[in-house]
Amino acid sequence: MLIPSRTQVGIVGAGPAGLMLSHLLHLQGIESVVIENRSRQYVEERVRAGVLEHGTVSLLTETGVGERMKREGMVHHGIELRFHERGHRIDFEDLTGGKGITIYSQHEVVKDLTNARLAAGGQVLFEVEKVSVHDFDDSQATRSKPKIRYRKDAQNCELTCDFLAGCDGFHGICRPSIPAAVLVEYERIYPFGWLGILAEAPPSSDELIYTYHDRGFALLSMRSEKISRLYLQCQPEEDIDLWPDERIWQELNTRLASEGWHLTHGPILQKGVTGMRSFVVEPMQYGRMFLAGDSAHIVPPTGAKGLNLAVADVRVLARGLADFYATGRRELLDAYSQTCLRRVWKVQRFSWWMTSMLHRFPGDNPFDNRRQLAELDYVTSSRAASQSLAENYVGLPMEW
Ligand code: FAD
Ligand code: DHB
Repeated sequence: MLIPSRTQVGIVGAGPAGLMLSHLLHLQGIESVVIENRSRQYVEERVRAGVLEHGTVSLLTETGVGERMKREGMVHHGIELRFHERGHRIDFEDLTGGKGITIYSQHEVVKDLTNARLAAGGQVLFEVEKVSVHDFDDSQATRSKPKIRYRKDAQNCELTCDFLAGCDGFHGICRPSIPAAVLVEYERIYPFGWLGILAEAPPSSDELIYTYHDRGFALLSMRSEKISRLYLQCQPEEDIDLWPDERIWQELNTRLASEGWHLTHGPILQKGVTGMRSFVVEPMQYGRMFLAGDSAHIVPPTGAKGLNLAVADVRVLARGLADFYATGRRELLDAYSQTCLRRVWKVQRFSWWMTSMLHRFPGDNPFDNRRQLAELDYVTSSRAASQSLAENYVGLPMEW
């Protein structure tokens, strides 16, 4: 493989943010190279998100990468909130003027984007090592251009770029490469995690079920007509070895129980534990480097927002870069962080609110339990409150 030495935009990370950015730039005639430290197979098999907002679905469709999603994705027009063993439907179609969400795995989106980039002659380099970013401070960039250094096939490589995009997730190297003094971090760590399973069992419901229960939160989701995805609130550092399949099913049955409703069981194909945090770094840019997606912010998964927020960031970034290359103006690029952060904080608020409403907190404060139940009662009985949940869940409109 020919190792590129120069490109317009150097992108670190081939997750949804990096690949989508590269795809959007290509559609504007802007060249990019994506540098990824994992293998293609690893990235394409990593089980994560599954809920695509209305706007994410439209973007994938409009930019020509939505064909398989349209065929295989499951369109949902509502969710159920379950508490005291009773279900309450939030009807998105009615409450948002016809909008919905699509259930389609994040790793399928990643496959579709990777295929589209490679088919268009795009450069996505997998299995690179020792990635580092340099010379992106604006004062340096007047003398020397931003660079990504890495090792590939035992060779030291250097990629010179006009701009860098840090799309390398929460544990990546881009954010820590910005001088700490210019960044402010906002963080909340939750005292619980999610134990998630993928099971070969037809979903027991047509729509997702978010359940509040004395023993903790539970979520029923799905991937197809044959595969269920289920989550249980657990300890943040839960030892998965303490959860044989039988115990997982028993706990799911208890928490999801509702009269006349049955949970379908099946072989568990995969299980894992995820911690939960809210995190934002400000600003999301420094000189000629822009952070997008999980490298700049993390939301707890209860609102199903992480992937969608990553896509929203790169839409803003692609537009700013396109404007720069077309006109030479930097106004949109300079406003990148400010533009993104308005949405980021609204999504943080929603994800925190869903998390706080649905999980049991340590200490089991009776006041808080009553307050959570009142919140659920309100949200499921007031049209104004249901509408607020619905418009956030299907995705707020893009504000440029
Ligand atoms: P990532 O997907 O993390 O991609 C970053 C990429 O950078 C990775 O491929 C990584 O290997 C690579 N990388 C890291 N370091 C380096 C380096 N030094 N050099 C080169 N490459 C590097 N979101 C939703 O919207 N809906 C959901 O339903 C949902 N459910 C979730 C369930 C779970 C269990 C989890 C864990 C997450 C969930 N999320 C959900 C969140 C969502 O998966 C993330 O927000 C999303 O992956 C963010 O995309 P990204 O491209 O910013 O980062
Ligand atoms: C899924 C994940 C979420 O975080 C969520 O809120 C809903 C569904 C899922 O993986 O299907």
